[in-house]
Amino acid sequence: MKWENNIIHSLSWGKSIIRKEEKEMIANQIALMVNDGDIIGVGSGSTSYMALLAISRRIREEKIQVRAIPTSIEIEIACSQLDIPIASIMEHKPDWTFDGADEVDLKKNLIKGRGGAMFKEKLLISSSKRTYIIADSSKMVSRLGSKFPVPVEVFPYALAYVDQALRELSPAGIQLRMAEGKDGPVITESGNLILDVWFDQIDDTLESTLKSITGVIESGLFIGYDVKILQPGTWV
Ligand code: 5RP
Repeated sequence: MKWENNIIHSLSWGKSIIRKEEKEMIANQIALMVNDGDIIGVGSGSTSYMALLAISRRIREEKIQVRAIPTSIEIEIACSQLDIPIASIMEHKPDWTFDGADEVDLKKNLIKGRGGAMFKEKLLISSSKRTYIIADSSKMVSRLGSKFPVPVEVFPYALAYVDQALRELSPAGIQLRMAEGKDGPVITESGNLILDVWFDQIDDTLESTLKSITGVIESGLFIGYDVKILQPGTWV
């Protein structure tokens, strides 16, 4: 039985979507890649949401069977709203995954996690044979960390310890990410805290250095992952 007057059906993307036209163009390219029967890992953020909208149009018009493995509650809600069935990562390895990013450098290294979903996003990207990162032109940078800090997801009990260990890496700044629309800090999709850490330089070892700190669940740094970058009209 379905819920009546379900609140989910009246929701829309909370904020206005920046660079909507560019994102729409890439979203349509993503939708064209979907094959009947696919189980797709779906990243979080406005670009992933727009890709999901474009996919739902194909599902409706062509009656194809597609299932999504969401990386956040926001995307799970969108799947419910768009009538896209959900699959569990416990049961299914995604055929492929798409996701957005906050920064992409020339070597296809990424910073992600503005939306606080980086742990599940990294899990999905690591589990997928193919991943497409959909990035409008504002995401391309010559130096990783020039526009965004590196989000470090921290088990709450370990906050003070992780803060101290991060300071030993001589970052340019560290901030506990605070919530908007709720008192206190942001709680991630996995129930943890985020320390946003600014680095003047990010080298290839930083991701594993961060991960080696006890209490760090994951970081939003993606160094050397096998991903394809999809920009409006081009592949990188
Ligand atoms: C969420 C993410 C998003 O993919 C990233 O923040 C990009 O978001 P948007 O598509 O809204 O620009 O990493 O954790």
